Amino acid sequence: MAKRAAVILAAGVSSRMNTMLPKVLHEVCGRPMLSYVLDACRAVDVEKIYVVVGYGADQVKERYGGHDDIVWVTQAEQKGTAHAVMCCKDELAGFDGDTLVLCGDGPLIRKETLKTLVDKHDSEQSATTLATAVLDDPSGYGRICRDSYGNIQGIVEDSDCDEKQLAIQEVNPSYYLFKNKILLEALEKVEPNNVKNEYYITDVLAIVLAAGHKVVAITAVRPEEAIGVNSRRQLSEVGRIMQDRVQDELMDGGVTIVDPDNTWIDARAQIGQDTVIEPFTYIHGIANIGKSCRIGPFAYLRNDTVIEDDVVLGVFTEVKDSVLGAGVRARHLNYIGDSEIGKNVNIGAGTITANFDGENINKTKIGDDSYVGSGVVIVAPVELAKGSKIESGTVVSKNSLIKPLKG
Ligand code: UD1
Ligand code: CA
Repeated sequence: MAKRAAVILAAGVSSRMNTMLPKVLHEVCGRPMLSYVLDACRAVDVEKIYVVVGYGADQVKERYGGHDDIVWVTQAEQKGTAHAVMCCKDELAGFDGDTLVLCGDGPLIRKETLKTLVDKHDSEQSATTLATAVLDDPSGYGRICRDSYGNIQGIVEDSDCDEKQLAIQEVNPSYYLFKNKILLEALEKVEPNNVKNEYYITDVLAIVLAAGHKVVAITAVRPEEAIGVNSRRQLSEVGRIMQDRVQDELMDGGVTIVDPDNTWIDARAQIGQDTVIEPFTYIHGIANIGKSCRIGPFAYLRNDTVIEDDVVLGVFTEVKDSVLGAGVRARHLNYIGDSEIGKNVNIGAGTITANFDGENINKTKIGDDSYVGSGVVIVAPVELAKGSKIESGTVVSKNSLIKPLKG
């Protein structure tokens, strides 16, 4: 098997997004776009991942602090996608394997597609293998030009297309695999001969062909996978598609989602078998929800939450940075923040944890089998023993005298 490296382009300024944040840090279903592209690369066994950063480089590096398989490469001035790859010249020099080139703004790339690309490249022994997709509306994308036999001739960017080329519906989703040596040779020959006066990676194709090397395309890319996020509208379009993927995977894993269109679930959430997610539920963050729970309608989970099995969270219940033991009931109008709630605890209607005292966030702990009535304010820090009983309408603080449930 050939050795592989990956280059992910993430240096662009992203003027069309109208943003101060580096584009690849914009989130799709709770994760930055770049994370999905990294996932796909990692699924095809790459030895090294070079991420080319420029605009907002420090922010991107900070966000991916713990990712030791990333080598950061800086593109000080954004002179185009070929120039961005060229910035990895020193890193790639002497590497005799294959180099994947991907864009950081294409989060819908699937690992299956990358695997197909890699397999095709290996079996065809091609110098360059690219993926293409056919779109109903190809505007904005590079068009795939083929000769009358169907052989690929090159890619023409939207802004450089003539009228005939504009009608081509086969586009470039920007996933390529190159024999590294051939890529480096071809990059030297790229000229900024286009309306934007940039060095385009797409021009490498024609250069590789002119040098007599083999270029192969896989055409089995789903149209959605070609979407690059250049605007906020595309960000929301991609978010919707990703949300469907997240929910489909959960449903395949045995979760009931009563009304998928009116439910939002973070891509990082894990949900156990036979849990039912009722409409208008918003699960944000690293939620870990157990089996046979009932969540919602109108429940809101955020940050880091662990919900054990058989928990019921009802209408207008918010849970943040908390652990809820098995069998907890919090059915109506609750806020549970920074808390550890033991098993089989009942939290009555309108009960909240007051976790912020103006300066610090404080913790609430409630022991197993406790009963908390309605309209209770728990002024944290508070620790209630196993089997505590809090009457409705109580304000509980750390000095409160708490009766046990039976006795
Ligand atoms: C690019 C492709 C186009 C393809 C489309 C798919 C080129 C010339 N065009 O167009 O054929 O259909 O993606 O989404 O490659 N970047 C850098 N440094 C630069 C310029 C860009 O790192 O100097 C990065 C951007 O941050 C982005 C990626 O490269 O992540 C693609 O650049 P972008 O400007 O979005 O290219 P498109 O016009 O979308
Ligand atoms: Ca793009």
